[in-house]
Amino acid sequence: MFNFSGQSDSFGRRFVWVNGPVIVGAGPSGLAVSACLKEQGVPFVLIERTDCIASLWQKRTYDRLKLHLPKKFCQLPKLPFPEEYPEYPTKKQFIAYLENYAQKFDIKPRFNECVKSARYDEACHLWRVVTVSTTGPTRSETEYICQMLVVATGENAEGVVPEIDGLQEFSGEVIHVKDYKSGAKYSGKKVLVVGCGNSGMEVSLDLSNHNAKPSMVVRSSVHVLPREIMGKSTFDLAMLLMKWLPLWMVDKLLLILAWFILGNTQKYGIKRPSLGPLQLKNHHGKTPVLDIGALQKIRSGDITVVPGIKRFNSKSVELVNGETIDVDAVVLATGYCSNVPYWLQETEFFGKNGFPKTPFPNGWKGKNGLYASGFTRRGLAGASADAIKIAQDIVKVWTEDLNQKKQKVPHLRRCMSTF
Ligand SMILES: Cc1cc2nc3c(=O)[nH]c(=O)nc-3n(C[C@H](O)[C@H](O)[C@H](O)COP(=O)(O)OP(=O)(O)OC[C@H]3O[C@@H](n4cnc5c(N)ncnc54)[C@H](O)[C@@H]3O)c2cc1C
Ligand SMILES: NC(=O)c1ccc[n+]([C@@H]2O[C@H](COP(=O)([O-])OP(=O)(O)OC[C@H]3O[C@@H](n4cnc5c(N)ncnc54)[C@H](OP(=O)(O)O)[C@@H]3O)[C@@H](O)[C@H]2O)c1
Repeated sequence: MFNFSGQSDSFGRRFVWVNGPVIVGAGPSGLAVSACLKEQGVPFVLIERTDCIASLWQKRTYDRLKLHLPKKFCQLPKLPFPEEYPEYPTKKQFIAYLENYAQKFDIKPRFNECVKSARYDEACHLWRVVTVSTTGPTRSETEYICQMLVVATGENAEGVVPEIDGLQEFSGEVIHVKDYKSGAKYSGKKVLVVGCGNSGMEVSLDLSNHNAKPSMVVRSSVHVLPREIMGKSTFDLAMLLMKWLPLWMVDKLLLILAWFILGNTQKYGIKRPSLGPLQLKNHHGKTPVLDIGALQKIRSGDITVVPGIKRFNSKSVELVNGETIDVDAVVLATGYCSNVPYWLQETEFFGKNGFPKTPFPNGWKGKNGLYASGFTRRGLAGASADAIKIAQDIVKVWTEDLNQKKQKVPHLRRCMSTF
């Protein structure tokens, strides 16, 4: 193993040769890949733009958040959740589990470094990953040079803020749901929640629990399913049924059961999509909402469902049905997106939307040592499955390399001379 740490060019950019892969993102996906590699003794560098692991969970989620799938579907490879954890761990418990995970596998990310570009250098057959420091008075740059690159920056790297007519003119507070913590400060206020995914539904519930008056915008359609059916997790039940039945039939069964438990959601302004929940997730990546109480609040009138937005005025919003309602604050629960297209200079494996183009289950490996972990739209279970496959592949390449006793240093020196 060789290390060129400390070399720098005339602009002050540091160069670091990495034996093994560079992993970008220290969320659950990056941690899972790291743990699997650690176990096999493969060295790596894990880069994280913030000052902590799992920054989505630590910095960009609301207080009342719990895992919405049973814990057995959310644990990372090689470390089950503690037995005393409830079926649906709280965000605090999940973060504690991840901190313990990082400690157990001795994972030490390079914090406060944001990857601003990564490209494959055809001449050298190496990846060049440039980071910029996110703390300190100067924004120093480091270039990591490596044979393998694991993209683990997440499906939810950035909040999506849609362009809505007049939003700039609105005089009240406007935040994206990533900055929402609790409804406590909205007590007594009229809050417009834009979006009815899992975030929009739960934030509306939280606002109502804190005596605010939420109106939730449902501009199209959404599947709402109970989180549990007869005491069993709906997700678990769906997984079980999928072993024997085709997807469309599982969808039909789920919708019948949902109708018995939740009633006709259309009665409350929540139209169901024409495709079933699992087919919709598979074909379009749209997650069904697992209801944890918002629907009851909608039935009781504590949460008002409103249609799409036409435009905002200074203190009100005009809706597409011609109605105008007064609003004190707006929470944009309008979803998230990948940030890969902003930094990865590669268009063969990753599409314009920042997700691998190859459909599941083959979207984890590209060419030239490029890997993607956590982009299957299958939550933490998908991230864990990716991590295991990626680590196995890297270990194989790594071992073959070692066996061939490749001379990397002269090769690298040639490349460094081209900077
Ligand atoms: C509110 C919310 C609740 C959720 N609840 C669940 C749930 O209950 N169950 C479930 O299975 N899934 C859930 N998900 C999906 C969630 O995305 C995954 O659970 C999990 O966080 C994915 O892990 P990840 O590591 O792939 O991505 P992330 O957790 O997003 O981690 C990516 C990391 O990469 C870092 N990063 C990004 N860009 C750069 C860059 N350019 N340079 C360096 N670092 C960078 C980020 O700072 C972040 O730390 C939820 C998502 C949200 C938004
Ligand atoms: N553990 C948990 O309990 C939990 C909690 C929250 C989130 N999550 C997960 O986090 C991920 C993201 O969920 P999310 O709810 O934040 O995002 P999401 O599922 O992408 O939902 C975004 C919502 O915003 C709406 N929207 C977007 N632009 C709009 C506009 N201009 N006007 C009106 N509505 C607009 C969308 O409507 P259209 O459908 O019409 O586009 C949709 O209802 C999902 O995987 C989810 O399961 C999990």
